[in-house]
Amino acid sequence: MRDLGVFAEVLPSETSASALASVNGGVKGVIISGGPSSVYDPGSPAIDPRLLASSIPVLGICYGQQLMAYLLGGQVQKGDRGEYGYAQLDLRVEDLLFRGIAGRQQVWMSHRDLVTAPPAGFGVLASTATCPVAAMSAPDRLLYAVQFHPEVAHTPCGLELLSNFVFGICGSVRDWNPAGQIQALEAQIRESAAGRSVFFFVSGGVDSTVAYTLCLNSLGPDRVHGAYVDTGLMREGETEFVRANFAALGASRFQVEHAEPQFLAALDRAVEPERKRHIIGEEFVKVQERILESQRFLDGRWILGQGTIYPDTIESGGTAKADLIKTHHNRVAGIQKLIDEGRVIEPLSSFYKDEVRVIGRELGLAPALLDRHPFPGPGLAIRCLCSSESGAPVKSPDGWILPVRSVGVQGDSRTYRAALAIDDFPAAADEAAHLVNRNEGVNRVVVMVRASARIPEMSAHPARLTRARLERLRRADAIVRHLSHESGFDHQVWQFPVILIPFGTSDRPDSVVLRPVDSVDGMTANSVRMPAELLDRMARELSEVEGVAGVFYDLTNKPPATIEWE
Ligand code: XMP
Repeated sequence: MRDLGVFAEVLPSETSASALASVNGGVKGVIISGGPSSVYDPGSPAIDPRLLASSIPVLGICYGQQLMAYLLGGQVQKGDRGEYGYAQLDLRVEDLLFRGIAGRQQVWMSHRDLVTAPPAGFGVLASTATCPVAAMSAPDRLLYAVQFHPEVAHTPCGLELLSNFVFGICGSVRDWNPAGQIQALEAQIRESAAGRSVFFFVSGGVDSTVAYTLCLNSLGPDRVHGAYVDTGLMREGETEFVRANFAALGASRFQVEHAEPQFLAALDRAVEPERKRHIIGEEFVKVQERILESQRFLDGRWILGQGTIYPDTIESGGTAKADLIKTHHNRVAGIQKLIDEGRVIEPLSSFYKDEVRVIGRELGLAPALLDRHPFPGPGLAIRCLCSSESGAPVKSPDGWILPVRSVGVQGDSRTYRAALAIDDFPAAADEAAHLVNRNEGVNRVVVMVRASARIPEMSAHPARLTRARLERLRRADAIVRHLSHESGFDHQVWQFPVILIPFGTSDRPDSVVLRPVDSVDGMTANSVRMPAELLDRMARELSEVEGVAGVFYDLTNKPPATIEWE
């Protein structure tokens, strides 16, 4: 909706019809989204049935269509196999929802259950070979629903359909443009600050920098304090990059807290990925508490600024994982107290990531900052794999199973398994998936690009998170970043992690893994192949890094692997 220039909010499905009638003076329309549940599951998401008898137009998508049919007495059949992928949509009846859309249409399906008979009073608008009710409507009641997904790029007519709903049926007007809101945002900051000053813990990333800049412009440099924690787990040149960015913004009250010894000491014997994350979280809390106390930020003259963006604030009923992430962020007692007292400013809390970039561009922030790839909070600690034992690779008919474990996600659960190394890039793009299925105990496939020894001559060895190994990884990462930027390859990927694994020879104990991926939101991802010439040059330069025995290339999609190795 926002891409169409119409303001829209995400609300919990249980929001009552009366609350919807009063949100912002009354909503113009409601979309019931898709979701993985079945209407027959106990506790599956429900809506207030009165919503379907109000004068507000409603569009149900996928699960939304099934829910609408179920609540109004249509037939929903429980599917056993499901349908995932492209389908051909045959339009049967002319309708406002499909205005300007004619003939057979390619659409994207992703569902298990399906509607087999619409509720009384509904007409079937379209069907596919497997879906007798691919779209239905009761136009006199302003109710519309589709089984396919109009919101994905794989449904070419999708945006037109949504546009028909929001403009043609709901009568909305274009009222949303993230650009051009800076003045209002800055006025709002002045009002909420009410004479007090603002302090930020900045990460150097897009969100906190844009939020900080808005406060800086609005309140002036004397009233905005930024603290950046150098954990020693950052990329090469990061602290200097952040410092230079904030200096360019005119931030005079900007502090870098050097905490590398503290983090490295705490992480010294950590091998397990989740343990590393836990330790980093704990140490971060300690540093934050130290800064809050030493600068007296908790007295009444200060409030906390945060770069929270809209997806972080959506209350969707929350999965267990979302809950976990939340508690983690709010752990600092002092910060929790400020939040409880309402002493927090979050100027970006109603914007999505791409909107934050638009605002950042309008504020004149450098593209080098705004176009950065996402980087995980725990930093290089989760890209520098450690090991407490030795191990040799094991031959499989498909390649070598490396004695190095990494995290994966299979069937919605986390796995922690070995990687399979093969000699050449396979011809088929989905070969990695087949290899993972064929080799038990494996969740990832890498191809060996270059090495100073043959795989059976290499081994895994005990390795810790030392400054020397982090330095090795920083060097490798800087080479990869430099070459992908120079060649323009960084624009073809969403993220490009570089991983150091404790697998090599006696004088070159580690190897480097290249992990370029494409993704939309990090939830799923595809491994991306780079041009041979670029890879050649990268591998050559990487093999010259001190201590690096081999260079591998990760071919696995997510799922079954994750983007990061830990
Ligand atoms: P995975 O490895 O789960 O990564 O496929 C998905 C996206 O999330 C990022 N990521 C993290 N970001 N703290 C973060 O702030 C973390 O602990 C963390 N783990 C993964 C990862 O870089 C990718 O963009």
